[in-house]
Amino acid sequence: MELIDTHAHIQEDAFEADRSEVLVRAFEAGVKHIVVVGFNVDSSRRAVELAQVHPRLSAVVGIQPNYAHEARPADWDTIVELVQDKSVVGIGETGLDRYWKTVPIELQIEYFHRHLQLSRETGLPFVVHCRDADEDIVVELRKAAKDGPLNGVMHSFTGTMETAQACWELGMHISFAGMVTFKNNHALRAVAAAVPSDRIVIETDCPYLAPSPNRGKRNEPAFVTLTADCLAGVRGLSSNEFADLTTANAQRLFRLPSCA
Ligand code: NI
Repeated sequence: MELIDTHAHIQEDAFEADRSEVLVRAFEAGVKHIVVVGFNVDSSRRAVELAQVHPRLSAVVGIQPNYAHEARPADWDTIVELVQDKSVVGIGETGLDRYWKTVPIELQIEYFHRHLQLSRETGLPFVVHCRDADEDIVVELRKAAKDGPLNGVMHSFTGTMETAQACWELGMHISFAGMVTFKNNHALRAVAAAVPSDRIVIETDCPYLAPSPNRGKRNEPAFVTLTADCLAGVRGLSSNEFADLTTANAQRLFRLPSCA
């Protein structure tokens, strides 16, 4: 079985002490590729540095909405430069977040569209973070879709069926993380059952929100197998069938080197 963790923050300090062991555990568990996602300029640069030295890692670079207020003008220039690196397979994470309320929504929207524009210019897919902002995201995606088809993924999706459907109808992929395995999350599993087969991908979003039964522990890429097994059951597939499906989708979405 071969899986791809499409969203991991293994560049973070949480992995400083044992990053190589974490990678070995992931590869032994069947994770063949990991997409390392930045959330500001420093973490984006670290993602690229890791991906440059590990053939089974790729990087996504961008400024996450909760960091947009800290970004200096030069930071965006650095993101645009980093995108040129051949280890970079996507733009983000970007998106909208009304949970933390630290960054004005207008600024978040401006940054969101910068990322979408960069995605269009480079042909690389964009990675969307959406927290308590489902309606806003759909509005902004619909605006962007007027300029042409969208090529992106709703990462760690936790929204409603209605939002999911609006997103996949706009051409988006939907990615599920550990929260979909939590006991009471029946509604989210129903969404995961409904996503079209060519649009579903999986991720850990580690070090956050480890899947059951590791809930509460530090998350790591090897645990994507737990989310995969849960969703295979939800979709009535064997673990192998589900792995093949989501791996093919992730390779196509991010045009990963291993499938070039
Ligand atoms: Ni993330």
